[in-house]
Amino acid sequence: MNDKIFSSYGLGSVNLSNRMVMAPMTRNRAPDGTATALMTEYYNQRASAGLIITEGAQISTQGVGYPATPGIYNDAQVESWKNVTQAVHNQGGKIFIQLWHCGRISHPDFHAGSLPVAPSAIQAQGQAFTYEGMKDFVTPRVLSVDEIASIVDDYRHAAASAIQAGFDGVEIHAANGYLIDQFLRDGSNQRKDLYGGSLENRTRFLLEVTTAVIGEIGSDKVGVRISPINAFNDMQDSAPQALFEHIAMALSALKPVYLHVVEVSMIGEGGGNVDMSSLRKAFAGCYIANGGYDKARGNMILSDGKADLVAYGIPFLANPDLPERFKQDAALNDVDQATFYGGDAHGYTDYPTLAAN
Ligand code: PHB
Repeated sequence: MNDKIFSSYGLGSVNLSNRMVMAPMTRNRAPDGTATALMTEYYNQRASAGLIITEGAQISTQGVGYPATPGIYNDAQVESWKNVTQAVHNQGGKIFIQLWHCGRISHPDFHAGSLPVAPSAIQAQGQAFTYEGMKDFVTPRVLSVDEIASIVDDYRHAAASAIQAGFDGVEIHAANGYLIDQFLRDGSNQRKDLYGGSLENRTRFLLEVTTAVIGEIGSDKVGVRISPINAFNDMQDSAPQALFEHIAMALSALKPVYLHVVEVSMIGEGGGNVDMSSLRKAFAGCYIANGGYDKARGNMILSDGKADLVAYGIPFLANPDLPERFKQDAALNDVDQATFYGGDAHGYTDYPTLAAN
């Protein structure tokens, strides 16, 4: 019970009741892009997390890349998310929303036939999950410098919308091969202008987004998620250690409240090697570790001082009362992968708590 994982933590201006974070997870249960009553129930059930980070929510119609994902840019979306934030807050929970733009990991089917956009015209190997099943990714259209500026403004607008909806803050999704990550890594960014080439140039878009969002809602309400070695979505970089150390240092100067690091690769090892402790050292704020942690390893990284918070994905998906289960060293529910993406309450809000068992 003295486990560090159950101790409280001051994250910016909010107090987290424990150091367990629910990691963002796409669940595809928002058919019209607004947060539904079922989504409110799902997050409400998980409010005992120290901090919930929602599934990715697109910042604009251009940002969408999957069926039935929510957005956070129009009035109906803002109104719908108020139900979620109120439910979580009523239980003393805290909740950030993840701001998402998929870039090339999308499909013309989501854009009335137009091409998805990206830093460079480089097609990702693999397939998009569309309303009509799996379809090959396409070669994206290259963004102009003016368009990049307007996407930065979309992030700013989405962050303002998130605060209106009652969120405690936002997480800028710069991980897992989506638009910002496409700028960061040289496997997907071959631009010759201010947004490509050097580490400074490839990092420019992330820093512009972070600066704009911080300017809008305040640095204590803004976190950033990166995935230095994740090969998912056909991502690679020729020198990831230097790149991500540069990113951690550059972000540190802007003082977002946390750096959330996916420390593993979701598929294979094509993303290279990075010493995560160097990122922890380079970034002065809160460090959230994520990727395959269990209770023992989570406690260990916290007590070793190598992280401040630990984010759990699948364990929170399948165990709404995960903190209580860790406290009791109770068994965890079996996970049903077939219900991860899309569907109804089954595999979403029907995972039992210990009390219900
Ligand atoms: C997914 O849908 O599998 C997914 C979405 C967003 C991520 C990672 C994975 O950041």
